[in-house]
Amino acid sequence: MSAIHVPPHVGIIMDGNGRWAVARNQNRTRGHLEGLKAAKRIVAAARELGISYLTLYTFSTENWKRTQDEVGFLMGLVKQYLMKELDFYVQHSIRIRHAGNLDGLPSDIAQELKTVADLTRTYTGMTVILAFNYGGRDEIVRAIKKIVKDGVPEEAITESLVQSYLDNPDIPDPDLIIRTASEKRSSNFLLWESAYSEYYFSDKLWPDWDREDLVAAIEDYSKRQRRFGGL
Ligand code: IPE
Ligand code: IPE
Ligand code: MG
Repeated sequence: MSAIHVPPHVGIIMDGNGRWAVARNQNRTRGHLEGLKAAKRIVAAARELGISYLTLYTFSTENWKRTQDEVGFLMGLVKQYLMKELDFYVQHSIRIRHAGNLDGLPSDIAQELKTVADLTRTYTGMTVILAFNYGGRDEIVRAIKKIVKDGVPEEAITESLVQSYLDNPDIPDPDLIIRTASEKRSSNFLLWESAYSEYYFSDKLWPDWDREDLVAAIEDYSKRQRRFGGL
């Protein structure tokens, strides 16, 4: 086996919670609970493997189209677990950040996301970015609005200027984006930032994911040759 290159930034489109539950004749919400457990396993494994940034696609700007029950359950999960896991973040020195539209969220949840980001801001072991009420197009539209509001002149508009208006401009682009549960699409995840990301698709449903799956993805990534348009 050749050398393993651990990507500094991994993004995960955690998909398949609903199918996992339906396959067991259970309510879709049960799948989200199992998905949360998988997320915790993978965060711990990523930290141990030396990943610096892990972006978890948790709720998209399109996920509001789901039933009120399911949306309510997902909002409740964040409310219930985000702060409850504080000991876990401390233990693993994990900094929590948010990507997405805070204005479109219930105010208590937006506040909770800000509080947990603030409480963990000095931790340097690994950064977990929760993409919650996140859409790549929405992120770009919000950036454009801020650029216009700031009265930035046309000649000052460069790629790095646009980048500086995105949600987390200091975080490097994702090197590897993983999508679980057989779908092969981005579903509006990190559109700007993924310009040169490597993709890895897995048939396993997210609640079944474990450390060995992350290791397999990184091994696969390690064999890729990234050219960024060069030779
Ligand atoms: C991913 O699982 C979690 C969220 C989008 C919140 P899904 O809920 O999309 O599960 P499937 O794709 O219906 O199986
Ligand atoms: C993408 O999954 C969003 C998250 C994982 C949070 P979806 O299940 O919403 O994506 P589509 O609808 O299959 O494209
Ligand atoms: Mg899905």
